[in-house]
Amino acid sequence: MVKKVAILANGGDVSGFNAVIRGIVKTAENNGVECYGIIEGYRGLLNNDIIKLDSWKTASGILTKGGSIIGSSTNANVFNYKVEENGQVVYKDLSDVCVKNANDNGFDCIFTLGGDGTQKSARDFSLKGLNIIGIPKTIDNDVACTEITFGYNTAVSVATDALDRLHTTGETHHRIMVLEVMGRYAGWIALESAISGGADVALIPEIPYDINKAADKIKERMNNGKRFSIVVVAEGAMPKGGTITVANVRNNGIGVDNTKLGGIGERVARELQELTGLEARNTTLGYMQRGGTPTAFDRVLSTKYGAKAMELAMEGKFGVLTVIKNGKLDYVSLEDVVGNNKQIGAVSGNTAESNIRKVTMDDDLVKTARNIGINLGD
Ligand code: F6P
Repeated sequence: MVKKVAILANGGDVSGFNAVIRGIVKTAENNGVECYGIIEGYRGLLNNDIIKLDSWKTASGILTKGGSIIGSSTNANVFNYKVEENGQVVYKDLSDVCVKNANDNGFDCIFTLGGDGTQKSARDFSLKGLNIIGIPKTIDNDVACTEITFGYNTAVSVATDALDRLHTTGETHHRIMVLEVMGRYAGWIALESAISGGADVALIPEIPYDINKAADKIKERMNNGKRFSIVVVAEGAMPKGGTITVANVRNNGIGVDNTKLGGIGERVARELQELTGLEARNTTLGYMQRGGTPTAFDRVLSTKYGAKAMELAMEGKFGVLTVIKNGKLDYVSLEDVVGNNKQIGAVSGNTAESNIRKVTMDDDLVKTARNIGINLGD
């Protein structure tokens, strides 16, 4: 019998965090289960920072709110945690402190809202005996085993709005308008927003690009009287034989992605301007994609995920991730989610070793883009 549960939000924020929290809290209350929030993700579990959540007060009026009412922490790999000891930086496995805190609080289940890194730690905690149910979050849409993560739809919608606006200014001034979007090592946001925003070129990490091919597309448009073009570039896109563009490298610990991507949009704009003779401008959309109110789609998806997770807890199904499979709510084992990234604590997430879902060449989005003549840089 599950009597007391806790929610933890981890990793970069997305629109929809609060809608998931609300879904869990309401389902819990309707079944006589007490609900707590762990403040700032795994770091909060480590520091034993918790609050009571209830739909009348602390978790009231949050469906449409961006951010997370219980915060979120990035780069908090508690299995390899960066601490200062005697003026020296050392890395420690503090996961047992987290396990003790969870047990001392009497949590029958912890819901982990997060991306691949969060779910890797979730699986590791599962092996340490905690009852965990993961819920897939990220604007990048790259969590393994699910067709969609919450937050993604809102990011695509923000990117689409940006493209609509770039369209009118690009057309007025006869320019190539480049939009750099997020997505890390996956091209979902770029590809989907390119289709919804009527772009002419979409460059994604899964297809290393030849800039001449993109330029040819723009020249073809010029030959047909179109003196402007719209280009979407995923932050993780790279030229054939080249590498990813890194904005900076930080030192947030071992087993987390210390690479901050960014800058490829500027490069693509510069090169396209040289190759086509058309003026080009880059816009980097950045954190707009993560903030603000969730779309109707994300509100519903988040609520479904939250309610389903609580339902699974009541059925005693732990060590799993709620997913959408063939369009339906379902769940999979966290072991399947981490794939080959089996070593406990070693790699948290969003690194080259982590198991993520990338765009495949047989995906409908790729086929659709090609059918309507969006150039993918190949
Ligand atoms: O994973 C979500 C995401 O927004 C990526 O799309 C982006 O590369 C990254 O997080 C940015 O991370 P940070 O918040 O650490 O700058």
